[in-house]
Amino acid sequence: MRILVVGGGGREHAIASALHRTGETEIFSVMAKKNPGIARLAKEICLVPETDLARIEAFAGKTGVTHAIIGPEAPLEAGVVDRLSGAGVACVGPTKNAARIETDKAFCRNLMTKYNISGNPDYRVYQDPSEAIAFVKDHEGDLAVKPVGLTGGKGVRIMGEQVDKAGAIEYIREVNGGVVLEERLKGEEFTLQAFVDGFHIVPMPLVQDHKRAGKGDTGPNTGGMGSYSMPDHMLPFVSRKDHTTALSIMASVVAALKKEGHPYKGILYGQFMNTSDGPKVIEFNARFGDPEAMNVLTLLCSDFSRVVTGITEGTLTASNVAFEKAATVCKYLVPEGYPQAPLSGRPLVTGEKGNAILYYANVEEREGKLYTLTSRTLAFVGKADTLPEAEQIAEKAASKVEGEVFHRSDIGTQTLLDQRISHMKELR
Ligand code: AMP
Ligand code: GLY
Repeated sequence: MRILVVGGGGREHAIASALHRTGETEIFSVMAKKNPGIARLAKEICLVPETDLARIEAFAGKTGVTHAIIGPEAPLEAGVVDRLSGAGVACVGPTKNAARIETDKAFCRNLMTKYNISGNPDYRVYQDPSEAIAFVKDHEGDLAVKPVGLTGGKGVRIMGEQVDKAGAIEYIREVNGGVVLEERLKGEEFTLQAFVDGFHIVPMPLVQDHKRAGKGDTGPNTGGMGSYSMPDHMLPFVSRKDHTTALSIMASVVAALKKEGHPYKGILYGQFMNTSDGPKVIEFNARFGDPEAMNVLTLLCSDFSRVVTGITEGTLTASNVAFEKAATVCKYLVPEGYPQAPLSGRPLVTGEKGNAILYYANVEEREGKLYTLTSRTLAFVGKADTLPEAEQIAEKAASKVEGEVFHRSDIGTQTLLDQRISHMKELR
């Protein structure tokens, strides 16, 4: 199979690696910046903006790819799947209309309401900032303020956490466009990703991401500093019942999109808050999570190319998909100053990485040397029978990197896990 991978981050390096493992694929890559890890696996690369549909289509035509997997949300929003499908390339990724489940937060909430799907917090959609401000002024209780459109995972402000009432109002003024105001949910977050072929939905292991830049979940929100998964593919603060609820919410969303005339093919990512009242939807993404892709794809032991054809042909079954029963811990190294003022262009030297798997993300390689850019640089994944072993593998490799970068040493540790478990016990 000749397959095009769109995107150049850690997530796409994990996608390319999983395809490469199956041996019978030829990988072609479109990315904005040359990811050294992907470049080594690909037969040919094309460096263009990931939303440049004309050039992506031309590269697909020239290389004769039959399939494509879309990593990031920006090309999905731009309609890359509509374009490539029109040119006869079978895509793992939703059309522009189906991708609205991620790219338009009001669409997502309203779709769930329309089809009576559980899991919505109380929410209100405002197009007019002054009406949103008037509501916030009179409202008692904390809210989450979300711009309607894409923000790269950094656009949410939570009252009582990052901002007070005045700060929330200030932020609505700053956004100066459509916002969704939501009840602030309290609980523990988890990620459930699934393969979807338009109709069937096959879940992947649960993962927990860490959005905050600093140790102990402090500091600003980021694209995600790292993540872990457990050998049983569950999380200790998510019950079987919670899992069933979350998966059934996702299946209902897939069915609703089909009824709306926008069948969903690709990866559906559900971000949930496990509350005292069960799982609530924080958001959906129309793609793998980054870093979560690195956890699950490291574990995928079935032939990824067969999963791809299952999705594109609408013949996906759970028997196509198997994951190793191991724990994974992923730790991202990010430039000092990230996310507000990242130090870019600084040299980066990896050390002894032991058994850790290295996924390249936003780094530049020049004359065999690595340099930081403005976002997450390298990720190390540890995979082992137990979480502590996986954590140690990732931690040792991450701490041996020299340069003006940092990572969260607490991700995947027992201490952090115990905090999550006791937090959930307090709530329930
Ligand atoms: P998002 O960009 O939607 O992924 O949101 C970023 C982060 O904001 C999430 O990972 C949550 O930690 C937090 N968040 C989003 N919506 C809510 C909500 N309704 N209640 C509490 N926290 C939220
Ligand atoms: N890890 C969160 C995201 O990919 O949006």
